[in-house]
Amino acid sequence: MRKKIFISQKIPEAGINYLKENKIEVDVNYSTKPLKKEELILRSKDCKAIITLLSDIIDKEVIDALAKNGVKGICNYAVGYNNIDVNYAKEKNIYVTNTPDVLTNTTAELAWALLFAAARRIVEAHKFIEARKFTGWECDLFLGYDVSYKNLGVIGAGRIGTAFALMSKGFNMNVYYYDKFHNSELETKLNAKKVDLNELLKISDFISIHLSYSSETKYLISEKEFELMKSNAIIINTARGAIIKEKALSEALKNKKIAYAGLDVFENEPEIYEELYNLDNIVMAPHIGSGTKETRDKMAITAAQNALKIVNNEAPLNPVY
Ligand code: GLV
Ligand code: GLV
Repeated sequence: MRKKIFISQKIPEAGINYLKENKIEVDVNYSTKPLKKEELILRSKDCKAIITLLSDIIDKEVIDALAKNGVKGICNYAVGYNNIDVNYAKEKNIYVTNTPDVLTNTTAELAWALLFAAARRIVEAHKFIEARKFTGWECDLFLGYDVSYKNLGVIGAGRIGTAFALMSKGFNMNVYYYDKFHNSELETKLNAKKVDLNELLKISDFISIHLSYSSETKYLISEKEFELMKSNAIIINTARGAIIKEKALSEALKNKKIAYAGLDVFENEPEIYEELYNLDNIVMAPHIGSGTKETRDKMAITAAQNALKIVNNEAPLNPVY
């Protein structure tokens, strides 16, 4: 069998070059949109590994076809892999890999960017300037919320949640986290307290979500949860959109049950719940959590390294099961 890898959509050249330097034949779909299932399947022929993006839906049907094509590895160019039916891939003896670690700080930094943009109403203020409405200093122009010394609630204290929480150090915040596991690093370095979800929602001024997506975390934050939050609460989501029920968020923001939201991810990307477009108290980004040049290059190389290992019959570096 030739050593060939199919890349389902455009990724940074760094990853493609890595494979070429390692004498791999690479077929790249140089598009920024996912292929139709049939086409993805067709192009995976003769490939022992493929590199996929989070907008490629790799369900049972696709996995069956990939298995028939001899594919042994699906290497996702992302840390999240909810686009892939991992259990089924496992059943079919196909590796699934992701790109952890390289994007941890980058994603945590975007969560902070959204948190500050929300707390200080940066986007509203920018639009105001752009509309040439600034006529002089006023005592109550775009009043926001202090961040320092406030309560920070971190939902999900894995790699990204931990990095995000550690970055709060300079702001002397009281840190609370919700997770299945104790996080001794956060407890030691920040004196963070592990609390249950309802308590976190009740006491936090800022809430940031860092969980992976599954049937267990779908709509974790819905109507009932918004009811528990403070009226000054600001919620940030850089994880996966459907962890928050967008309709409930939209109502909570509209009725000022909570103060503000900062979202990088959406329930049905690229579609966005219509009402969210009409709110002032929200700042939104188009899923760019890992979006820096350095990090995207590293993600491409990580995905390529995993694919190369599989093509060479070696264990990949970042298997997800
Ligand atoms: C992006 O959302 C990722 O999972 O890497
Ligand atoms: C993913 O990288 C996480 O553990 O947050």
